[in-house]
Amino acid sequence: MTSQHNRPAIAVTGLRKSFGDHLVLDGIDLTVPPGTVFSLLGANGAGKTTTVKILTTLNRADAGEARVAGHDVAREPDAVRAAIGVTGQFSAVDKLLNGAENLRLMADLHHLSRAEGRERAGRLLERFDLTDAARKPAATYSGGMLRRLDLAMTLVGNPQVIFLDEPTTGLDPRSRREMWQIVRDLVADGVTVFLTTQYLDEADELADRIAVLDGGRVVAEGTAEELKRRIPGGHVRLHFAGEDQLDAARRVLGQATREGDALALRVPSDGSLTALKTLIDRLDERAVKVDEMSVHTPDLDDVFLALTGNRTTERVTN
Ligand SMILES: Nc1ncnc2c1ncn2[C@@H]1O[C@H](COP(=O)(O)OP(=O)(O)OP(=O)(O)O)[C@@H](O)[C@H]1O
Ligand SMILES: [Mg+2]
Repeated sequence: MTSQHNRPAIAVTGLRKSFGDHLVLDGIDLTVPPGTVFSLLGANGAGKTTTVKILTTLNRADAGEARVAGHDVAREPDAVRAAIGVTGQFSAVDKLLNGAENLRLMADLHHLSRAEGRERAGRLLERFDLTDAARKPAATYSGGMLRRLDLAMTLVGNPQVIFLDEPTTGLDPRSRREMWQIVRDLVADGVTVFLTTQYLDEADELADRIAVLDGGRVVAEGTAEELKRRIPGGHVRLHFAGEDQLDAARRVLGQATREGDALALRVPSDGSLTALKTLIDRLDERAVKVDEMSVHTPDLDDVFLALTGNRTTERVTN
């Protein structure tokens, strides 16, 4: 039992994939603990969907190993499929069917009994706020409703691991937040979520760990905070009540630069607890009074641009 719980939900080593002479994945390693959200970031064409397709058995790797929910994706694809749900970059909803029919179709694919299928479809429609729309053709749904239906369809099979490939692309801010809450609820229920996204605030908001894919490799991996600390630009902003305090702080801190004419100094810092404590102790020792203090870390957009060198790896193959 214990080993089951400690086992990674996803474990990938040395994954490689080329399309013709185009090397897309050049040996990637990933480990995702169960009950967490893992986000894979990368520019257009970096290989995110390719990774998702390999992990969900829709595509085969050229080399390397991948286990999902404890099963090898190449050797035990059926066991992997039984344990996962996938919401692809492009919707799986059949627009000619209504919401309830789409869900019941999924229930049939999962070999649920008629009664069970109806019951589960009903519960999911309610959970995703689609009860009123259940009898309307999906073609009439808004983008947000389609995404919710798509995700509801993924959940029909009670998956342990869910792959969400750009789940909120094209959604308005409110629908995106609803989707985030759904993801959080899933994780609270113990589900593992593998998420790709172009929205770095989404990864920041949801992901326990983030990996950045570039040039076929994972160029950085860690929590959002760890990634932000890796790049320069972080600083602590100190605001003072008067010139005398600002000057005193300047003498104590050395490295500080003044922010224009404001009564504020910027001190380069990685924003870590240790760095902040050292800074506060130094000011305290000299009895320098700080009016306000704020930590500015680079956001994930800065991290992404720094790590991927603004490169675009998109390539059209015919
Ligand atoms: N079946 C295929 N045949 C040939 N090339 C492919 C195939 N699938 C993907 N590629 C190529 O592999 C590269 C990675 O594609 P992939 O779809 O994994 O990128 P992505 O990171 O998901 O991009 P996006 O952010 O645009 O969704 C691209 O250059 C793409 O053109
Ligand atoms: Mg993609």
